[in-house]
Amino acid sequence: MPNHVLINNKIGYFKKKIYVSSDKSLSIRCVLLASQAVGISKISNLLESEDVLNALKAIKKLGINYKKIGDKYEISGQGLNGYNLKKDTLINAGNSGTLARLLLGLLVKVNQKIKVVGDKSLSKRDFSRVIDPLKLFGVNIKSKKSCLPVTMQGTNFLRPIEYLENRGSAQCKSAIMLAALNTPGITKIKAKKSRNHTEILFKYLKIPTKVIRKKKYDQIEVVGLNQFKSFSYSVPGDISSAAFFIVLTILSNNSEIIIKKININKSRLGIIKILKRMNAKIKFQNKKITNGEETADIFVKSTKKLKSINCPDTLNSSAIDEFLIIFLVAAKAKGISTFNKLNELNKKESPRLDIAVKFLKMIGIKVLRNNDNIKIYGNPNLSLNKNYFMKNFLKDHRVFMMSCIAALAFGGNWKIYDKTSINTSFPNFLSILKKLGAKIK
Ligand code: S3P
Repeated sequence: MPNHVLINNKIGYFKKKIYVSSDKSLSIRCVLLASQAVGISKISNLLESEDVLNALKAIKKLGINYKKIGDKYEISGQGLNGYNLKKDTLINAGNSGTLARLLLGLLVKVNQKIKVVGDKSLSKRDFSRVIDPLKLFGVNIKSKKSCLPVTMQGTNFLRPIEYLENRGSAQCKSAIMLAALNTPGITKIKAKKSRNHTEILFKYLKIPTKVIRKKKYDQIEVVGLNQFKSFSYSVPGDISSAAFFIVLTILSNNSEIIIKKININKSRLGIIKILKRMNAKIKFQNKKITNGEETADIFVKSTKKLKSINCPDTLNSSAIDEFLIIFLVAAKAKGISTFNKLNELNKKESPRLDIAVKFLKMIGIKVLRNNDNIKIYGNPNLSLNKNYFMKNFLKDHRVFMMSCIAALAFGGNWKIYDKTSINTSFPNFLSILKKLGAKIK
């Protein structure tokens, strides 16, 4: 089977209700926390993508059993640090930064050597953001140039830390919170705003946690060494996956979509705020709270008159995984859009800022870049008719999916490589597109 897709036609009009894949951040957190809960946790709608399957494989290597019964994963937790692992355990986190970083936090009390490795993309990413705080807890942790492979040996003599998380990285914050679970005393984190799923899950699991929300930072305190009980959880849809269909609908003609049961946690809503300011027609329907997380059906209509945005950088962390797809809207909007302080974007599965600038130029959009700030000169009449190739993007799933949406929205003849990249987060992405009428070979 070829590992590319061919797209030679814009998508036609559509009016559909769809479900997208379950939330990746929540799925990985549920698996990891269930592995240290006391008893059997039951998780339904767990995302069955490579990143989450790697999380399940990881806890299996740590001696935790799980099985799938009907649509539920049942994970038999053994309580705090209740792992049982072989000598020199090797864990492969594949493509997942979230899995690798959170897992290191979870393992701080395991008094044996564990090596964590990842794929080519993950092995280029920065791990100093978790290595530095975890060292302060007292663990022995080694790496070359702060990248994977990382070898770690935990300790029984953990000490609580006070840490300033200054990047707005939920992965760093969460790794520290997970380390706090096995550490005596109170671990304190002052964390720049980022997605707060771990905080919400800790509250749901009744882990003693205090969160004081300030304007730019949250003050988080976790009291360690409290066993927590197994839990039931139903994982809602992922707004980062819904994002591709939200933008496709906005950029298409006379189309409408309802994307069912999506997690609309406020710390993930940057994309909605940005697109609404650009004139997009988006509404939330059937809002509910399940397991402490808010969900809704997202209704979106095509938008004819898109306008540019001067995007405040305070929205960066709540839209961090969606900028690639937001840039397509900026490419079609009237006026010049500006996005600033996007340095974290180059630290993802691929250097997404570099790739986005190249991509926009390839489709004829003027882009000015000054370090981590970009200006996109929108063209409301954007319509493509040349040949376009996309490859060499470190198999980044979101680059692949963004390229497909560009092809379907703007036209042209496209050959887009690394189709299998979608297996990390959104395995049925292409089949949903086909249901909407997209012609993809
Ligand atoms: C994630 C946090 C974000 C995001 C990633 C998932 C998480 O990364 O980009 O896809 O689940 O905590 P950072 O926290 O490093 O910004």
